[in-house]
Amino acid sequence: MKDMIQRANDHARAQLEQCNHTYTPKLHVSVPVGWLNDPNGFCFFQGRYHLYGQHNPYDSVWDRMHWCHWISTDLLHWTWQGVTLAPDQDYDTVGCFSGTALVEGDRLLIAYTGVHNDEKGEERQVQCLASSSDGFHFTKADHNPIIDASLLPEGASPRDFRDPKLQRVPGGYRLLAANQRKGKGCILAFESATGETWRYQGEYVSDCGSMMECPDQFELDGKSVLIACVMGMEAEGIDPAQNTAPVMAFVGREQSGSLSIEASTVLDYGMDFYAPQTTQTPGGRRVLMAWMFNFSEVSPTHWLGHGWTGEMVMPRELSVRNGKLFQQPVRELEACRGTGIHFSGKTPLWQAQIAQCADVTLRLDGMEGNNVTIRCHESEDEAFLIDYNGQRGELALDRSTCGYPLAAPGRGAGRSRVTTPVAPAEGTLTLRILTDRSSVEVFVNDGEKVLSALCFPKKQGIGWTVTCSREIHMTIDAYALDEGA
Ligand code: FRU
Repeated sequence: MKDMIQRANDHARAQLEQCNHTYTPKLHVSVPVGWLNDPNGFCFFQGRYHLYGQHNPYDSVWDRMHWCHWISTDLLHWTWQGVTLAPDQDYDTVGCFSGTALVEGDRLLIAYTGVHNDEKGEERQVQCLASSSDGFHFTKADHNPIIDASLLPEGASPRDFRDPKLQRVPGGYRLLAANQRKGKGCILAFESATGETWRYQGEYVSDCGSMMECPDQFELDGKSVLIACVMGMEAEGIDPAQNTAPVMAFVGREQSGSLSIEASTVLDYGMDFYAPQTTQTPGGRRVLMAWMFNFSEVSPTHWLGHGWTGEMVMPRELSVRNGKLFQQPVRELEACRGTGIHFSGKTPLWQAQIAQCADVTLRLDGMEGNNVTIRCHESEDEAFLIDYNGQRGELALDRSTCGYPLAAPGRGAGRSRVTTPVAPAEGTLTLRILTDRSSVEVFVNDGEKVLSALCFPKKQGIGWTVTCSREIHMTIDAYALDEGA
């Protein structure tokens, strides 16, 4: 009998020819076939980056999770490796859910959530380990599951118990996992000397929304940072009618095994951003990868029959400045810049044809009270709008005039506009906008805020137009990315 990994890869290979890659991004990680959600196991191992992901190889919708795999040397060009972990054990028959990687010399350890149904048919989520000597082939641990319901504290959920973050700590290992305790979201900490026998340590974070998902934790610029998706939480600058699970970075200090939170930041104010996780580059930079989608949407690549759904955001470098988290596209992107167009002057209008995949920085001076509309992915009758309303101090992404909606046919337009407060810094608004074949990402004021959205333009327009309610001083640096590739 073929093993489940081979079966999945054979199936995917056979499907590949029928897939349509019109919307496949040039510089963002995506799946060539099937479904993709969360990034998993993001790490630098044996001289290159490895990224794994939540994947259904059999259809372009979420189902029975496998892990897929890519490799890269620059975080931008990724080579697809197919399926690397399959739900083939009693404790993970329902799926291999999200998890993280830990590099230990020439051994790569991954922790993931095994999902199965118990004797009563109730879903159970348990934490599991697998190891690899090359990053391509994994062996699941004999002592799996390493943590099951028997280790949970009173009131914690055996069903909503997932997304382990595995860490090396003095004296052994720590594992942080998301849970729901007495109806409140929390992150539980477990510890082990060898990785085999584990014990519950305590709540790392408690009483946070109704359920948390995908914790990541690291030290950055002298602070402890916890990243997590928080269901049922209201966050400043996020419309709860539009987004019920903001993705947060909590910045603070660790005290007696838990995080004392000093500040929190919403990681993305756009429509499509979830389940981020980070790794450290060999040079010590902290880089974040995330899923660019939202479970409330249906991708046109699915219902148009393109055979694939799912891509990641542009990887971002993180820094903490004055206690606040900032994000910027990885600096490797600058090496992908091709032809540039530069403009500096006073005008109410700027227009150019660039490329589908572009990197455009606009510095707009004298913005107080002024309105600006930036149109990208523009053709005769389509454009994605980035709108700044100076009276209200609000920035909006609007994809209502940009191709196919992210909703099933006949189910309306889906979410097509989001707004968030944005304040120009001393009258100047700086926006760095990245476009790819099916996305727009906007980095505001040097990465103070980020907004990401998918879009599926019908015409693949390459036009850009900037219009302002008045003449203002604009400085624009626009580049086509990865030309000829
Ligand atoms: C987040 C998530 C995780 C889970 C995975 C399942 O998007 O719900 O909590 O492990 O997706 O695919």
